[in-house]
Amino acid sequence: MREALPIIQPIPEAWLAPGAHPLEVDFGCHRGSFLLAVAEGVPERNFLGVERQSSRVDRCNAGIARHCLGNALAVRGEGASGLEVLPQASVAVLHISFPDPWPKRRHAGRRLISSEFLAGAARVLGPHGSLRLMTDSADYFSSMRRLTADAWCEDERNDGIVRPPTTFEKTFLRLGVAPLRLTLRLR
Ligand SMILES: C[S@@+](CC[C@H](N)C(=O)[O-])C[C@H]1O[C@@H](n2cnc3c(N)ncnc32)[C@H](O)[C@@H]1O
Repeated sequence: MREALPIIQPIPEAWLAPGAHPLEVDFGCHRGSFLLAVAEGVPERNFLGVERQSSRVDRCNAGIARHCLGNALAVRGEGASGLEVLPQASVAVLHISFPDPWPKRRHAGRRLISSEFLAGAARVLGPHGSLRLMTDSADYFSSMRRLTADAWCEDERNDGIVRPPTTFEKTFLRLGVAPLRLTLRLR
């Protein structure tokens, strides 16, 4: 299998400095429709999109520039290595919405949500962060539950922020498919 892409574009230092606005990461941000909408609606937070396809990263950043959003940025990154540039406990919310389901059993090892990725998520979120997972795949959802059963628990806190639906969420809702959601924090 080919190597995962490291993030090469720097994240603004001010976003990681003490006292910075809370940082939310949208991992697998696609063309940025959620990223742009949430950044526009919640100016008191910073939003980082991570995406493995560079054409999509460019498209996100073009939209961010068009909307003059100083609190959003997309970077190229892939899998667990895409979290490595983020310091420990630097992320308030990590969103992973509709990660590719890889439904064939022989491809399950390609899924984003793995023990390795969750170890990275635990590091960047720290004890106060929130991990928000959403999928339409019942099988992937079971696997997410299994992999998070020991170290994570349901996060019942409500930060009061109303976040817009993602592109895939809108599509599934239009088709009458309710997304399966897990909102977790470390135990
Ligand atoms: C099915 S789309 C979901 C897009 C968006 N999150 C939504 O809910 O509308 C999955 C996205 O994740 C990206 N992706 C898939 N595997 C990835 C990985 N290992 N690392 C980073 N991005 C990934 C894909 O390129 C695609 O843009």
